[in-house]
Amino acid sequence: MTLSESFASVSYIAAIGLFILSLGGLSQHESSRRGNMFGIIGMLLALVATLAIVGTHPDASASTFGILAVVLIAAGTIGAFVASRVAMTSMPELVAMLHSFVGAAAVLVGFSNYLGPQHAAGSDALVHELEIYIGIFIGAITFTGSIIAFGKLNGKISGKPLMIPGRHLINLLMVIACVVLGVMFVQGTEAAAQGGLTELIIMTVIAGVIGVHLVMAIGGADMPVVVSMLNSYSGWAAAAAGFMLENDLLIVTGALVGSSGAILSFIMCRAMNRSFISVILGGFGTGGGSSPAAGSEQPQGEVTPINVDQTADMLSEAKNVIIVPGYGVAVAQAQHSLAEMVKLLRDAGVNVRFGIHPVAGRLPGHMNVLLAEANVPYDIVFEMDELNHDFPTTDVAMVIGANDIVNPAALEDPTSPIAGMPVLEVWKAKTCVVMKRSMASGYAGIDNPLFYKENTRMLFGDAKKNVDALVAKLRELEPA
Ligand code: TAP
Repeated sequence: MTLSESFASVSYIAAIGLFILSLGGLSQHESSRRGNMFGIIGMLLALVATLAIVGTHPDASASTFGILAVVLIAAGTIGAFVASRVAMTSMPELVAMLHSFVGAAAVLVGFSNYLGPQHAAGSDALVHELEIYIGIFIGAITFTGSIIAFGKLNGKISGKPLMIPGRHLINLLMVIACVVLGVMFVQGTEAAAQGGLTELIIMTVIAGVIGVHLVMAIGGADMPVVVSMLNSYSGWAAAAAGFMLENDLLIVTGALVGSSGAILSFIMCRAMNRSFISVILGGFGTGGGSSPAAGSEQPQGEVTPINVDQTADMLSEAKNVIIVPGYGVAVAQAQHSLAEMVKLLRDAGVNVRFGIHPVAGRLPGHMNVLLAEANVPYDIVFEMDELNHDFPTTDVAMVIGANDIVNPAALEDPTSPIAGMPVLEVWKAKTCVVMKRSMASGYAGIDNPLFYKENTRMLFGDAKKNVDALVAKLRELEPA
């Protein structure tokens, strides 16, 4: 083993360790920044080690590194530019788009491996062919599925589930066709070098159609699960590419992403009270508009408005306050103002806590990221299950830019599209103040009976403007 190869092997093991530490760190707010740093260092190490391996190849020359440098700099610059400009609210679309790249990479690696020089023979060759076939299959599903998810998340494709009659049978037939083509592919390659190319191309097209069909059948309200599911698929696609390239780091990293994505999907399903299998097979959830005009339900009742001064008085007189943030906080970028308001209230002796729903916002952990960005102390941020039973003893529940995650219909109306989804039971507080701009519905496109309850007050307006006004008023109320 040359020095470069030894360095690469040690670096790969170190990178694997760093990726595991990164995943561990990202599971807690307190350690998430550290976790991110571990991930960045692990990826840098992996890149350097891969370059060292490239250097050991007999055909490697200065121009090989020149090409790699150009590609790395161009890709890194595009990545940094896109990531720095993306709004937090568009993050899920970006993630979906990045997943599609992993899928496309697995397909391309598969074809290049297949068309390149064949090294293995006998049973090794069979294993290699299966790796290529399965890698391309998963990659193609991930690629097209992620593109459809991207379209659904940014509203270019309708959030309504596409319910083709007999869709499960169609999916089954397509999978069977891929299995049959797989057998023909192996037989074809045994008969002649690259003899199974036609079967490989047909399977790639069918797998692409499966990806489109699977995600088209999933409704807007279940998109959180789709995003994490595609995250998982992209991990398996990367692992498959790792097998094809005989790259241990890619295999382990892909498996880590694949399994953590699968666990996250499972957690999201539990949070939304959905069966994992039903979501994967599609047909759940409703359209994904954000205003009633977009085809969702019209408001069905009378509401009681409240103004900023009255809200500030109510908050300053309260002993216990629970704030429930939602997607609107991200839209308004109200997190810093919110942190200031919370500090003022806590300084005045009010017990303020945050209640976070697992699918609040538009991506897993969206609210935690916003609150961490504004340096809200972690010890006042609670998961839904940790404080849902505290609402009856809460003076003011303040819902800021949230809608679906506080909709009582989920518990009270079995015909509701979100029936069975656990929600934050804010209506059980003495008073519930809902801050939003209008009577528009949330992501699931359904009316919210919370707004018409006797103890609910509507504070209309942009979340940042309203919270800034509350901060100003609370300062006025501060004892001199
Ligand atoms: P939503 O139900 O989408 O409600 C957000 C509310 O914020 C809207 O009703 C909107 O009402 C209000 N809003 C928007 N901009 C605002 C602003 N500038 N100021 C004040 N309010 C504003 O959000 P949620 O309660 O967080 O629930 C999340 C939903 O998204 C769930 O249905 C979930 O399934 C879905 N989803 C979640 C994810 C993940 S992974 N978290 C991914 C995709 C989808 P106005 O327009 O009247 O202001």
